[in-house]
Amino acid sequence: MNTSLKLGVNVDHVATLRQARYRTMPEAHNVEPSVLEAARTALRAGAHSITIHLRADRRHIQDADVWELRKEPGLLMNLEMGNTPEIVAIALQVKPAFVCLVPEHREEVTTEGGLDVAGLRGSLEATVRALEANGTRVSLFIDPEAEQVRASAAIGASMVELHTGTFANETGEKRAEEARRLAEAAELAHGLGLQVNAGHGLTVANLKDLAGVPHLAELNIGHHLVSRAVTVGLEAAVKEMLAAMSNSLSPA
Ligand code: PXP
Repeated sequence: MNTSLKLGVNVDHVATLRQARYRTMPEAHNVEPSVLEAARTALRAGAHSITIHLRADRRHIQDADVWELRKEPGLLMNLEMGNTPEIVAIALQVKPAFVCLVPEHREEVTTEGGLDVAGLRGSLEATVRALEANGTRVSLFIDPEAEQVRASAAIGASMVELHTGTFANETGEKRAEEARRLAEAAELAHGLGLQVNAGHGLTVANLKDLAGVPHLAELNIGHHLVSRAVTVGLEAAVKEMLAAMSNSLSPA
């Protein structure tokens, strides 16, 4: 049982639903659903932080959402973002508690692979150091590879978020093998002083297969929680996930 493991709830899909109807009329009096209300509900249910991804194409979360959530007392914001001058400038103004830097490609449905921190070290290091100096703890979303973990520590990030997309999409022995890769990366990251987070594709059902991954501090979960919310409500979905986390995963 891991009582210290935290849950960050990604509410991008709440904005996706709103944009599906109200993209062209953001000021309408009847705009719904509310990203802020969803965030409040998730926190009330026990979530530790709220993750939002401000994409360059603004397909779901809008700048106004970022500022609205930033003003909410007690809300710890994890701002997911690409490393572009426009979005970095916004993050420096907003000063969220956390930033998670991700690779971002216009055509993708969701974040596809991890960041190539080793290859992009030059451009990433300036951003990481500027954000950290501005009071934001920075996480790098990476595939579970030793080279990427080492590069993340070398450029001054506080945290890595290990990409669990492959783990989630595989089954059987292939999933077990990916869990072993995640465990090795987590061990290495922890040894280098990095906080270890994980996310992408996690569900109540697949969480138990992550049990061998040590040192996990926080999981960031969106799609499954918002999907469950359609049938059981967001508060119940978050509570189910917190229960599964404390029952299935080993202590950090
Ligand atoms: N972590 C990162 C870095 C992501 O890009 C995403 C997807 O936005 C998530 C976690 C959450 O993934 P999911 O929506 O599959 O739970």
